[in-house]
Amino acid sequence: MSSIADNDDDDRISNLPETLICHILSFLPTKQAVATSVLAKRWIHLWCSVLAINFSNTELYHQEACFRFSESVYSVLLSRNSIKSFCLGITYGEEGIIGFPHVVKWVNHVVQSGVETIDLLVDTMFGGGPKLPISILSCKTLVVLKFQRFSVKGFTSIRLPCLKILHLSESGFFNIQDFMLLLTGCPILEELQAHHIGFRSEDSITYQERNSSSLSLSKLTRANMVCFYCDFPLKALCNVEFLCIQIDEMYRPHDEIPIFHNLAHLKLLSLNYNWKLLVHVLCHCPKLQKLDLSEATEDCMIPDVQENWVDPEFVPHCISLNLRTCTLLRFKGLHGELLMAKYILKNARVLQTMTITGPSPCDYLLPPGPMLHVDFQYIERELSSFPRASATCQLSIENVNYEFLENS
Ligand SMILES: *[C@@H]1O[C@H](CO)[C@@H](O)[C@H](O)[C@H]1NC(C)=O
Repeated sequence: MSSIADNDDDDRISNLPETLICHILSFLPTKQAVATSVLAKRWIHLWCSVLAINFSNTELYHQEACFRFSESVYSVLLSRNSIKSFCLGITYGEEGIIGFPHVVKWVNHVVQSGVETIDLLVDTMFGGGPKLPISILSCKTLVVLKFQRFSVKGFTSIRLPCLKILHLSESGFFNIQDFMLLLTGCPILEELQAHHIGFRSEDSITYQERNSSSLSLSKLTRANMVCFYCDFPLKALCNVEFLCIQIDEMYRPHDEIPIFHNLAHLKLLSLNYNWKLLVHVLCHCPKLQKLDLSEATEDCMIPDVQENWVDPEFVPHCISLNLRTCTLLRFKGLHGELLMAKYILKNARVLQTMTITGPSPCDYLLPPGPMLHVDFQYIERELSSFPRASATCQLSIENVNYEFLENS
């Protein structure tokens, strides 16, 4: 292979059409995209055509830095007519008090510029998330909205007619009704991710409210709700194909679980060895092909009283007809867990893999009880010799930790 001199390389890039260069620049953090303007004369104004603005990983601990940064964001925003994507990741020191009003102005500007993607993380030292700039909530062009560490309040109506993807994490709402109001404003939402969402008011919605709720997310195919401690009408999620949920926190026994008629992949977290609830949920997922189950709760405790697994009277349809992949996470080898695993092996006729993975590191730090000991050889002996309904089923037992909270 002949080597190519650096200069030739530069020329090659410079000879590309401007639109292509802008496309390439749009993947760079804005600071670097601006820096390209020193490369060649022709590049000086090229970055002005880049419509993806990305100021992530910005730390502003001094007034001076805060001031300079604000200046450069204004100049980038004002130097173009349209902005497709705006990503801001700022950690403020005490300067957050003077810095945050600028964030609101930038967002107000961006939502008027045809923006399709907004991704905001603003960390402050003055406690509590800053208030989400509410102009975002009526942005007619927005397709993707992600935000982290905001409090969402002070809005009256929400209109996000094009929004397809909504990810929110470590954010707070006044109450569950406000959260539902947000969703009601997103009629074509396809993907919802809500992690660590808090509610200021303890009032939960009543049984009547939940059942009469007209919240319907008919296009929603993916819902991922972790550490979402409130009760939410599961009915609104009934069309999803993928669902990750901590159902013990969401579900009150008198609630109805809807039929999830499209659900192919279910992740259930923190069931807390509530086997009856597990069977009850499975009976409402007729098409389920993939089940990931973590019985352990977040606080890593083994409950004193565990219900033991009792074979249900009827095998849930999804187990006998559709289940192909079953992953049992943070498996401790408790009696009930083994009986449940055996039940699935015995009844799942098209099962291809059952994977069992060991506890996570925090499971070993059980205060004040006995040290957790998981005997993987015993688990393997018990399960590998157990009769399986599916001749092709592979059993894999891994004494490893599994990054469970990642997306499917
Ligand atoms: C912004 O840049 C960061 C770091 O380079 C990257 O991880 C992130 O995906 C970018 N965001 C967008 C919306 O392009």
